[in-house]
Formats: sequence, C-alpha cells, structure tokens
Amino acid sequence: MADELNVHIVDHPLVQHKLTMMRQKETNPRDFRDLLEEIAMLMGYEITRDFPLQEVEIETPVAKCRAKVLAGKKVGIVPILRAGLGMLEGLLDLIPLARVGHIGLYRDPKTLKPVEYYCKLPPDVSERTLIVVDPMLATGGSSAAALTMLKEHGARNMILMCLVAAPEGVRVVNREHPDVPIYVAAVDDHLNDHGYIVPGLGDAGDRIFGTR
Ligand code: PRP
Ligand code: URA
Repeated sequence: MADELNVHIVDHPLVQHKLTMMRQKETNPRDFRDLLEEIAMLMGYEITRDFPLQEVEIETPVAKCRAKVLAGKKVGIVPILRAGLGMLEGLLDLIPLARVGHIGLYRDPKTLKPVEYYCKLPPDVSERTLIVVDPMLATGGSSAAALTMLKEHGARNMILMCLVAAPEGVRVVNREHPDVPIYVAAVDDHLNDHGYIVPGLGDAGDRIFGTR
C-alpha cells in the first residue's frame, strides 16, 4: 500500500511503561532525563540485534573454546541537538567505543522548517554505521535534514532512532530517505496546528533541560 508506514516499533513492555511515565505532564526533568536514557539503552539493544558476530578462540578457566564477539563493526552515534543528547548516554553505555557526532538543528516556530547551526562529525563517517537519535519525529523536517547533511558528509549506512513519531514525519523520512530504517517506541495520532505531536509528550528539549 502506498501510504503504509515503514517503521519498526519497539513494543517491549519496559519501553512502553517508561514512555507512559515520560508522557505524563507531572514528570519532572530529572525523571524525564533518566527515563529517556533508560529507553535509549533498551531501544539500542533492539537496533543492534542484527550486528554481525565472528568466532574467536578463547580459554576459560576450564577449557579452550570458540566463542562469539562483535565483528568489529564501526559505530557512530549522532544526536540531533538539543533533545537528541538525552538519548546519547544510554547508547554509549551499550556501545562504549562508538564515536559521537553532533548536528545542531532547531525548528523555526513559525515555518516549522529546520535551521542548521552546528555540525561536528568523526572523520570516517563513511565507514561507520551511524545511529542518528532524536526523541521527536514530528513533521520529519529535522530528521530528514540531518540525514541529508550526513549523506553530504559521506555517510552511507544509517539508522534513525526516535522515541515518539507522528505518521506525517515517518512518511517524510520514508520518502526522502527510503534507505534509512526508522525505530521508534510509538507512532502517535497526528500533528496539531503548531506541529506538536498529539498526544506526544510536549517539547522534548524543554522537558529534558527544564527550559520552560
Ligand atoms: C525538536 C525535536 C526535533 C524536532 C522535531 O527539536 O527534538 O529535533 O523538534 O520536529 P520536526 O520533526 O517537525 O522537525 P527543537 O526544534 O524543538 O529543538 P531543541 O531540541 O533544540 O529544543
Ligand atoms: N518537537 C518536540 O519537542 N515535540 C513535538 O511534539 C514536536 C516537535
């Protein structure tokens, strides 16, 4: 079907429970940050499920054996500032050797179009699997722009990981970047007139950093 959304929903009960706590308007910034970090780690577990393994020879205290280790895949994590920072530590706990790039984008409140203000990436992005993170996929403008910027810098292998998406945003990224798999914890109902996800969780950056 032409309108079908191409998105992986991480429906693990722990992820869904923690997301519900994040959505509640009473949740304070400290708890919001902790929950986001925990969910990022749980989602990271899912998105790395297909990472290749190789066998090596090791020796346990009892015997020699062959055992599996990750096949040296090079990973990069790219948070979209600001709110993407809230998902970084959870992923780094899982993949401590990942390199980190930063893309600074904010959404113009009138036009809802992304405005670029920062980009600092590891030099070898073309050789890495990049996990691009941003909790909110609303109109899709910010994520699509970040993926385009990364491709312009040579990235070839990317995964987009968000917390909450609107169907509108998923469609935009599917259309502009059909090669990039999207992982989310939930696809919500729609966008409101201000481009906010309904029911969503409000402004993720403000809730992480307590700026409202
Ligand atoms: C939020 C969010 C995404 C963007 C999503 O960032 O973190 O980057 O909006 O909206 P879109 O899909 O319609 O582009 P925001 O612009 O509020 O910046 P901030 O993270 O610095 O607060
Ligand atoms: N950005 C957010 O932080 N929340 C939304 O609902 C939409 C864009």
